[in-house]
Amino acid sequence: MSDKTVSAGAYFLGPKSENASWLRSEFQAVLDRWFDWRRALFADDPSPLPEQVRLSPDFLAEREIMAQRVRELTELMAGEVPKYTPRYIGHMVSELSVPALLGHFATLLHNPNNTSRDVARVSGRVEDEAIAMLAGMVGYDPAAAQGHFTSGGTLANFEGVWRARYRMDHCLSLGLCIAERSGEQLDPVASAHMDWSRFSELAAAHDISEAELRAASSVLGNPFEIAARISAASGRDWRGPVLLVPGNKHFSWLKAANVFGLGEEAFWPVALDAQGRLSLPALNATIARAHSEGRPVLAVISVAGTTEAGEIDPVDAVCDRLDEYRQSGLHIWHHVDAAWGGFLCAMLGGDAEDRLEAGARSALKAIRRANSVTLDPHKLGYVPYSCGAFLVRDRDSYANSLFAAPYIDRAAANDRWMMTLEGSRSGAGAAAVWLTGKTLTFGPDRFGRIMAGTIDSRIFFSRALRDGNPLVRLLEPADSNIVCFSLARPGDTLSEANARTARAFAGFVPDPAFSVSRTVLAAENYGEMINTHVAGYDGVVDAPTLVLIRSVFMNPFWENEDFRAALMPEFLARLEAHMN
Ligand SMILES: Cc1ncc(COP(=O)(O)O)c(C=O)c1O
Repeated sequence: MSDKTVSAGAYFLGPKSENASWLRSEFQAVLDRWFDWRRALFADDPSPLPEQVRLSPDFLAEREIMAQRVRELTELMAGEVPKYTPRYIGHMVSELSVPALLGHFATLLHNPNNTSRDVARVSGRVEDEAIAMLAGMVGYDPAAAQGHFTSGGTLANFEGVWRARYRMDHCLSLGLCIAERSGEQLDPVASAHMDWSRFSELAAAHDISEAELRAASSVLGNPFEIAARISAASGRDWRGPVLLVPGNKHFSWLKAANVFGLGEEAFWPVALDAQGRLSLPALNATIARAHSEGRPVLAVISVAGTTEAGEIDPVDAVCDRLDEYRQSGLHIWHHVDAAWGGFLCAMLGGDAEDRLEAGARSALKAIRRANSVTLDPHKLGYVPYSCGAFLVRDRDSYANSLFAAPYIDRAAANDRWMMTLEGSRSGAGAAAVWLTGKTLTFGPDRFGRIMAGTIDSRIFFSRALRDGNPLVRLLEPADSNIVCFSLARPGDTLSEANARTARAFAGFVPDPAFSVSRTVLAAENYGEMINTHVAGYDGVVDAPTLVLIRSVFMNPFWENEDFRAALMPEFLARLEAHMN
């Protein structure tokens, strides 16, 4: 299977339900096996629903009402946003894949709760295998990597912060205990950034007990009292760690700072370069500033596929820089938010990877070097909501809330509830990923081909837009499969261009022919990129924001040449009508 190039059309229902009869029979087969399973188990038990009950008038009347209500609901749903059609290029959602639908449905019927093997003895194993598949896709060693499925990218990002905080809290507690006992001055930055092997070495050398560590933990103890102790031991007011997030971040990161009680002040945005990606000089300067203020870096976040425009931060250069810190004993946690772009890793290692620009390719290849990563199967994985995934590269990095050294903190390995922020978790998303991995497989000629097709679609659409309307100003470069553009005449002010772009977008909103989205970039984060964009039409920057129409190319049928050739002229005509 994995050495054959994929026939993508076989894996989706098709915009006109072209694969309906096959899919119907597969759904039917899943249902039949579920019915049979129930009949065969405890086959000798008496039935509480004998035929005379099932055929009674009351019973039949109840069923009729249910059938009517089901019809009512499905008719209601016919008014739902039609996200399956290639005409939907609005947000990060599109057609679901057939394996994902079947995996989801087949598991839903058994209703496993992956919080514990007690209630998910098969589904828990399926989750482990699916996590290993995703780990292999991003380049982690599947045998060493750990992780679990979450309700989405937001929660997966929180899981990253939780782990980073766990390690930092342990290390800082140890540093505090040693300083208080020895009377030597505490260096919070050096202590907070030690790794687990140094932690074990120092804890043993100074014979620090778990009880002492617990009493010095700002997570387990009173954070205000611990802060006062750190201030006293370091001879400097302790202001806590900072979280470094590029200016292109998703707002889940602000939520994380809020939820983990860091305070918004501790959320330090790292400036972007003219391409809208994390700027390395800015990262260097921000880390240096934090350390000079005596504040450790809780984590550096880089983004592989930004929400706004799909840009991919230079993850490789960030890893190189953090390796240099590591050589001087400072281990800074690196989390890659690949909620959007993570599945593009499936292209790596085959011809498909040539569709990526060199920078994006190197960045995606470097995800394997990060401590932890967020993926969102419910985006480019074509899996139903809600399904995110959190992965770490090794067991030590998976440690979270139990206050014990990582090498003994492993009792929970089989019971996920200890390891996840969420409690009850459906196994359906994990199974959807598992079946995708077992059928499509996440290799470059298979799932990677579908991803390459989404990039081809973006390239086709961008060129056709630019050639079809002289006012189209593409936001460049585009690293993945999202097209953003504004509408400007040569010499326009940014306000004039913004007004025209906003007008065109407003025209698309009620138009059933195509769904697009809108994004607004603020000069505060995207200043350089906005200047370059406006300079492209000899315009004048007179506004603090850039309004863009945004189209997300993930629907696999945009790759079909006849199909897109038929749709594109219609899109251009609508654009022309809406902007005037
Ligand atoms: C880069 C990025 N990170 C995180 C998220 C949050 O994901 P979710 O909506 O699944 O919680 C998104 C959602 O669009 C995203 O684009």
